[in-house]
Amino acid sequence: MSSATSTVKSSGRKILLLENIHPVAHEALRKEGHEVTAISHSPDREELSRLLQTHEVVGLRSKTRLPAELLQKAPQLSLIGCFCIGTDQVDLATANSLGIPVFNAPYSNTRSVAEMVLAEVIMLARQLGDRNMAAHKGQWLKSAEGSREVRGKTLGIVGYGHIGSQVSVLAEAFGLRVIYYDVVKKLPLGNSQSVETLAELLRRSDFVSLHVPDTRATRGMLGAAEIKLMRPGAALINASRGTVVDIPALAEAIRSGHLSGAAVDVFPEEPASNSQAFKSELQGLPNVILTPHIGGSTLEAQESIGLEVAASFISYLRDGSSLGAVNFPPLSLPQQHAGAIRIANVHRNVPGVLGSINSIVSDLGANILGQALATDERIGFVVMDVEVQEAHELLRRVEDLPTSIRTSLLGQV
Ligand code: NAI
Repeated sequence: MSSATSTVKSSGRKILLLENIHPVAHEALRKEGHEVTAISHSPDREELSRLLQTHEVVGLRSKTRLPAELLQKAPQLSLIGCFCIGTDQVDLATANSLGIPVFNAPYSNTRSVAEMVLAEVIMLARQLGDRNMAAHKGQWLKSAEGSREVRGKTLGIVGYGHIGSQVSVLAEAFGLRVIYYDVVKKLPLGNSQSVETLAELLRRSDFVSLHVPDTRATRGMLGAAEIKLMRPGAALINASRGTVVDIPALAEAIRSGHLSGAAVDVFPEEPASNSQAFKSELQGLPNVILTPHIGGSTLEAQESIGLEVAASFISYLRDGSSLGAVNFPPLSLPQQHAGAIRIANVHRNVPGVLGSINSIVSDLGANILGQALATDERIGFVVMDVEVQEAHELLRRVEDLPTSIRTSLLGQV
């Protein structure tokens, strides 16, 4: 592994923001003294490779891919931000081995999803999707048949994490009773109650809303057998991941009248872009609301994503805090000691690295005021505050260690 270093201070970094990232991110980073280049499109491979030669930090959304070959040819690059939820567009393992943390914004759109789910509970209870379509076609379907209030009904939430628990709070404000099932013990919010099994939740709920991640355990979690356990006339909402529900089984339950409706935002196969056609067995079924994976797509969420990732950039570049990075040993650091410089070193995780670094410090007659280390299987990440006369000599010697991958001077110099 060759050593790569960025011996620069925390401000004045050259940051490249692609794909129309929200202007709040540009502003926050410029305020910190960074030089921001913003580009509205996703550059092709060649253009991206060229841009990465002159930028140390890159922010992208879902269209730009950073495979291993591009990362390996960008020695300047020291920090990546995915201004979205997913991070699979970046080769995370390669970024890790090159000492590049990758941040994302996993919770900036939580509230947006929860609000949409609540809207769908009411839409399903009142068949608003179908009535709306009929009215647009000139049909006047004024009837109370099959329309219900949600007050007093039971909403069963599967997965009581960030989104599930927000749905819980909003649902109670509408007078719904909330029960939830989670594999991890979670504090019930408001008057909600946890149930022991998924089967119990399915048997007791008038509405079931899924908020689990995509894991081996959740794939196909709602199949024909589970749907059968749901109350006759109940409705299902899935704004989690497309793999969680067996779509043919759901379609059959709607056709047979066992379920009164469904709202589905995520699908096992989704079109890659707006120009591609969308096909699903659920199309054309009564009281079925289909949306194009927009649960988290609001202007507020975009702004919040911009702020969240920019804040991660700032605290990594200023303090060396890697907390929240998806591919990096987590370090959360206190403020830099007055009178000290702060050095960050990413190294191969082999025995003796800290000893070697500390010997360099002592050879230079310097004093370590604080030191924090975190490791994963491949790399170690150490950040230390040092009182030293010869800061650049210290930096050079640490950088020259055969174990070093990336060494930088952070914070106030
Ligand atoms: P989270 O990680 O905060 O919560 C997930 C919860 O599910 C956790 O409490 C976890 O313990 C629980 N869980 C995991 N496996 C389970 C199992 N087998 N049975 C029961 N519970 C289980 O995640 P968050 O942020 O609430 O997101 C939930 C889902 O929503 C994710 O799949 C995410 O991809 C999706 N999502 C969809 C969006 C959209 O646009 N439709 C936007 C944002 C997120």
